Amino acid sequence: MFTKITSYDKIYPYDFWSRRHKNLKTRYLQFNKKDMALAGELIRRGELVAFPTETVYGLGANAFDEQAVKNTYLAKGRPSDNPLIVHIWDKSQVFDIAREVSQDALKVIENVMPAPITIVLPKKDVIGDSITAGLDTVAVRMPLSVQAREFLHSASVPVTAPSANLSGRPSPTTWQRVAEDMDGRISAVLCGDDCAVGIESTVLDLSRDEPVILRPGAVGAKQLSELLGKQVKILTDPNSKVNSPGVRYKHYAPNVPMVLDLSEDATKLAEFYDAKVKEGYHPVLWVRFPERFSGKNVYPMGTKIDDAAHGLYEHMRILERTYDFIIASVCPSDEGLGVGVLDKLVRASGHNLI
Ligand code: TXA
Ligand code: MG
Repeated sequence: MFTKITSYDKIYPYDFWSRRHKNLKTRYLQFNKKDMALAGELIRRGELVAFPTETVYGLGANAFDEQAVKNTYLAKGRPSDNPLIVHIWDKSQVFDIAREVSQDALKVIENVMPAPITIVLPKKDVIGDSITAGLDTVAVRMPLSVQAREFLHSASVPVTAPSANLSGRPSPTTWQRVAEDMDGRISAVLCGDDCAVGIESTVLDLSRDEPVILRPGAVGAKQLSELLGKQVKILTDPNSKVNSPGVRYKHYAPNVPMVLDLSEDATKLAEFYDAKVKEGYHPVLWVRFPERFSGKNVYPMGTKIDDAAHGLYEHMRILERTYDFIIASVCPSDEGLGVGVLDKLVRASGHNLI
């Protein structure tokens, strides 16, 4: 009997987690002095606290408390071989965490941070293996969001934070979405602003000779190349099916079929839509210019790339509930947020380009 439960827990670690924490009552905290002090205290005590950032909501734990870090994986049901980002509120903290800070890293720290960017540097021993999944490097991020930095300051320790969703769900960009996934599983949610950017930070590896973007986000390759005076490559090519390290981990895909078009050709899209209706689907066109399609189910993606990014995960949660086939369309951009949005859409569609 005991063996049976153990193997079940291995398959569904978060169910194990919620059975263990049956009576956990999640507190919903506001941005006032008292609640902020409590949020910081909870972190120092080893509890999990979700908090807003400019990219997505994070699930915070004390980076110096190994059990707290491990609990993050359990509460999310996330594989523990995907390393976590350490969040800081002051630039000087980089030197507490990183063993070596290269000239390139100094430039990024001085000129770009705080921003929706994470830099990967050789780690110091204070950063445990449960954070880095055994790697010799650590990912560091100083959020642009003032609310995030106030919370981190209140915690007064570096804070690990993956996105505050259950593994397999879209990243939350409002505290209400955090509540949907994490209520009863974590100690507190800091109810702050909706996330301005809407997709995760750019991950820039500065631990090797050549700077490489491991995950595209709002801070683009062009901006970084100009700053560093050398070419900054993007490792994940959204049009390639090659299994680059960033693609190793399952990324959110809606629970209904989704295809992606990169032409924004209204005639082609309308024909594809009609074919799906004939097949018996109740499809939706998720497009930047919905007015081009009369008499069809449409959902606006936002004409500007900022709007598309801002609503991306929220729209996926809405669309999969309402329709049974998503036809997404976006004109690919090769800079900044455009690359990030395209990357998420290509993955969400399971590389099903039409
Ligand atoms: O915008 C963000 O970065 C959000 C908010 C909460 O700050 N956090 C976030 O965390 O997206 P997460 O856990 O979903 O993504 C962490 C990313 C993963 O792609 C992981 O592989 C990469 O950072 N990463 C972490 N440590 C790394 C390391 N030492 N070397 C290479 N990649 C690393
Ligand atoms: Mg995530």
